[in-house]
Formats: sequence, structure tokens, C-alpha cells
Amino acid sequence: MRWSFVAVVVLTVAAVVCPKASSIGANWGTQASHPLPPDIVVRMLRENGIQKVKLFDAEYDTLRALGKSGIEVMVGIPNEMLASLASSLKAAEKWVAKNVSTHIKTDNVNIRYVAVGNEPFLSTYNGSYLTTTFPALRNIQIALIRAGLQNQVKVTCPLNADVYESSNTFPSGGDFRANIRDLMITIVKFLSDNGGPFTVNIYPFISLYNDANFPVDYAFFDGNSQPVSDGGTFYYNMFDANYDTLVHALEKNGFGNMPIIVGEIGWPTDGDKNANVEFAKKFNQGFMAHISGGKGTPRRPGPIDAYLFSLIDEDAKSVQPGYFERHWGIFTFDGLPKYVLNLGTTNTGALIQAKGVRYLQRKWCVMKPNVRLDDPQVAPSVSYACSLGDCTSLGVGTSCGNLDGKENISYAFNSYYQINDQLDMACKFPNISEVTKTDPSTGTCRFPIMIEPYYGGAVQGQVFFFPLLVAVAIAMLSIF
Ligand SMILES: *[C@@H]1O[C@H](CO)[C@@H](O)[C@H](O)[C@H]1NC(C)=O
Ligand SMILES: *[C@@H]1O[C@H](CO)[C@@H](O)[C@H](O)[C@H]1NC(C)=O
Ligand SMILES: *[C@@H]1O[C@H](CO)[C@@H](O)[C@H](O)[C@H]1NC(C)=O
Ligand SMILES: *[C@@H]1O[C@H](CO)[C@@H](O)[C@H](O)[C@H]1NC(C)=O
Repeated sequence: MRWSFVAVVVLTVAAVVCPKASSIGANWGTQASHPLPPDIVVRMLRENGIQKVKLFDAEYDTLRALGKSGIEVMVGIPNEMLASLASSLKAAEKWVAKNVSTHIKTDNVNIRYVAVGNEPFLSTYNGSYLTTTFPALRNIQIALIRAGLQNQVKVTCPLNADVYESSNTFPSGGDFRANIRDLMITIVKFLSDNGGPFTVNIYPFISLYNDANFPVDYAFFDGNSQPVSDGGTFYYNMFDANYDTLVHALEKNGFGNMPIIVGEIGWPTDGDKNANVEFAKKFNQGFMAHISGGKGTPRRPGPIDAYLFSLIDEDAKSVQPGYFERHWGIFTFDGLPKYVLNLGTTNTGALIQAKGVRYLQRKWCVMKPNVRLDDPQVAPSVSYACSLGDCTSLGVGTSCGNLDGKENISYAFNSYYQINDQLDMACKFPNISEVTKTDPSTGTCRFPIMIEPYYGGAVQGQVFFFPLLVAVAIAMLSIF
């Protein structure tokens, strides 16, 4: 009697005193030449205590691997699918049946959100998705209702922070971007009516990348920056100011209570002078500390719901935004932690590496030692290797930025060789390359060995592998 009474009191007090903690998830993208097998990633998520993932599509094997893990899942609909889902309720119903209902019912996947589109109003898309995003969102919501899933699964639409702006450069001037304001209000009202959150991606790194005069300390959470006073409310970091600009925009339009999810937040480790392990650790660890107390932002106190961007590096992403784009992971492509990051979810206070990763052989493709840098075969070979491999770790201020000319060329050759599964013919740059068993890595520059390709099951593998070989053969022939 007495003990159960004490327990009830303790629990009640705990519930009142401890605010709901902020919780951290991760974005799991798969635009990689060699994605890790989904089962390995799910085990890695569990061992690292990451309870939520955000996906960019709805790959069958990924979802199946998440089944019974208990991990909360946000499945995604790529922008390219918005038009068809907007024009056909049947297509939306099929999408929900195949990519949500089946996985919930047969694989026990804990799907909680459907992300309709990914930053569809980004200015670089030139308005391509302006007319299809909302009808697609509405059709998916109707389909969820018809499938009886509307209480468990909420719709949302991850947007870049560029959908809002400020009339006075401070958070208090926040409102939706003038040229899409009506559309934004329609979407926000629809989300609000259906219990869906506002999902926003916030990137201090990009602000720093785009503006050489951006105050570096303001991107981080160390409290060293000159505070910005917004009518007496002080801001010490860009994240709070940006988030509160959204809070003000929502308040101004009558949605002050709308839940917000930070869909993407993070810092890349390579491909730019400001993208390195030191800054990434400082930013991500600073963000964890910033949200851990459940203190929130000046305008919206309370827990913050966020997904780190991202879980694993993706070597096949477009470099149009910048070379850093392939280096956002807290883990490398093969599931190794890049630095000590304490998410507050492991006993060691550090990230735990992926288990059971299978590598190709310990060998590399390099430039032959006796070849001259001005050999006429070198320049076209390097540009070919870099166009199909990944040379984003070369360049000023990057992890391989200190290589000499020959090492540079070897890096390019090796990247192409590894991405092509160490095929013999992928190290046959005419008379200027050779395979070596000596690791050419130096200092911060890692010459990777690729992991075994994952085909998502034997049958699919055979169908896929043959065209790949043919494509590689044709590409090699057409160049040499
Ligand atoms: C389910 O999602 C996958 C991956 O995004 C997509 O390719 C497929 O077309 C979807 N299925 C349906 C029936 O829409
Ligand atoms: C957007 O417009 C610019 C300039 O007109 C063009 O270079 C770019 O390719 C367009 N992008 C898309 C996604 O249509
Ligand atoms: C190595 O390659 C990078 C990227 O192509 C280039 O910027 C750099 O100047 C090269 N370094 C040397 C020593 O050739
Ligand atoms: C490669 O080297 C050999 C012997 O040095 C020479 O005969 C051949 O023409 C060279 N091939 C190319 C493509 O340069």
C-alpha cells in the first residue's frame, strides 16, 4: 500500500517536474553508390539509441528492416512523384496502401509521418512544384483517412527555412515569403486541421557558406557571439533566431500553437573550408546540449523535436549545392563514427560503429610511380575518374587538400576504382595506373576501400549487376 502510494507520488512529481525531453532523430538517405544494407543500419540505429528516422522515399527493404524495431519512421515522397499524386487520388491510395499500410500491418513498422515532397518550394526549383505540392498533400491525407490510419500517421511537408522571411531582419518580423504566402497559409491550415506538424530544415552552415561576412560564432551554440537584440529579446545563435522567425510567422497567421519539427539540422565534415570534423562536432554537440534541457527558444520554450542531417554520407548526391553535400553524415559511408558525439543515448557517451560491414579486398588503384604529371593521359583520365567517382574530398581546406599532385591523381583513380567495385578494368587508365596493396592514406586523407555492394536480395542483384558491367565497359571503351 505505502510503496505503491509512494510510487504514484514519485511518478506524478516526475511527470510534472520533468518536461517532456527533446528527442533526437536522424535523416537516413540512400543516395550512395554503395548504401549500407538496411539491416546493418537499423542495428546501428538501435545500438546508438536513435529512436526516430526520417526517410526520403519508401524503399521496401528499408521499411522492412525497420519493422519490429520500434523506431518511429517518417516516410518520404520525392518531389518527382508530387505531380502524379496531385492529379490522382487513386495513385495516392495506391501509394499509401503499398508504402504505409502494408508495412504497418505486415511488418509492424512504426510509421508516424508521411513527408510529402522535400523542400519543394526551394528557389532553385523555379516554382516547379508550386501547383502540385498541396493537392498531393491533400490526396495523401484522404488516402490515409480511407485506410483508417489518420490517427497514427500524420502528413507533413518538409520545407526549407527560405519559405519565411523577416520584414525587419529580426525574428519578430517573421512571415511567410511574400510570393508564396497564400499557398503557405493554405498548407499550414490544412496541416493544422489534420494534426500535422510544420517541418522545417534549418542550416547555419549554408548561411556561413553563402556569406563570408556571416559571424562564425553565431552559427554555433557556445554563447560567444554578439547577441542580437530583437526588441529586448536576445538571440545568441542563428538556430534560435531562425526557429523563432517561423514561430512569429505562424503566430501572425493564427497558428501560434502549431507543432514544429526540425526536419534537418547538421553540419558537414568535408568539401569546404568550413566543413570539417571540428566544426561538425562543435555544432552537433552544441545543438544536443542546447535542446537537452527542454528549454526551447525565447519565443517557443519547451522541447524541440529534431532530426540530425544526416546519419550516413552519401557519395552519389548532386554536388550542385557544393562539394560538402556528400559529407553530412555523423557516420562515414561504411558506418564509422566520424567523431565523438554524445547523443545522451549510449553508455559510452559516444557513437557506436556499424557491425557486420563487409568490405572489398584491401587494395587501391594509384598512379604508377614513374609517370610524369604532364603525361598527356593524366588530365583526361583524372577528369573522367572524378566525373564518375567522388573527388569532393580534394580541394582547398578539405580532408585531402594537402595531397601533392601525384597523390591527388591517385585519389581520383582510387575513387573511380572503388566505386566500380574494384573491377580490374576500372584501374586501367592507359599506362598510368596500377593496383597496390599498400594503403595510400595519409594524415586526414583516407583512401577508402569500398564496401560490398548491396543489391536488396539476390534476384534483384542479378538483374542490376549485368547492366552495370555493360555500362562500365561501354564507358571505358568510349573514353579510351
Ligand atoms: C512506393 O514508394 C516507392 C519508393 O519511393 C516508389 O518507387 C513506389 O512507386 C511507391 N509505390 C506506389 C504504389 O506508389
Ligand atoms: C531554374 O532556372 C535557371 C535559370 O533560368 C536554370 O538555369 C535552372 O536549370 C532551372 N532549374 C530547374 C530545376 O528547372
Ligand atoms: C589537387 O586537386 C584539387 C582538386 O582538383 C586541386 O584544387 C589542387 O590544386 C590539386 N593539388 C595539386 C598539388 O595538384
Ligand atoms: C603503353 O606503354 C607501352 C610500352 O611502354 C606502349 O607500347 C604503349 O603504346 C602505351 N600505350 C598507351 C595507350 O600509351
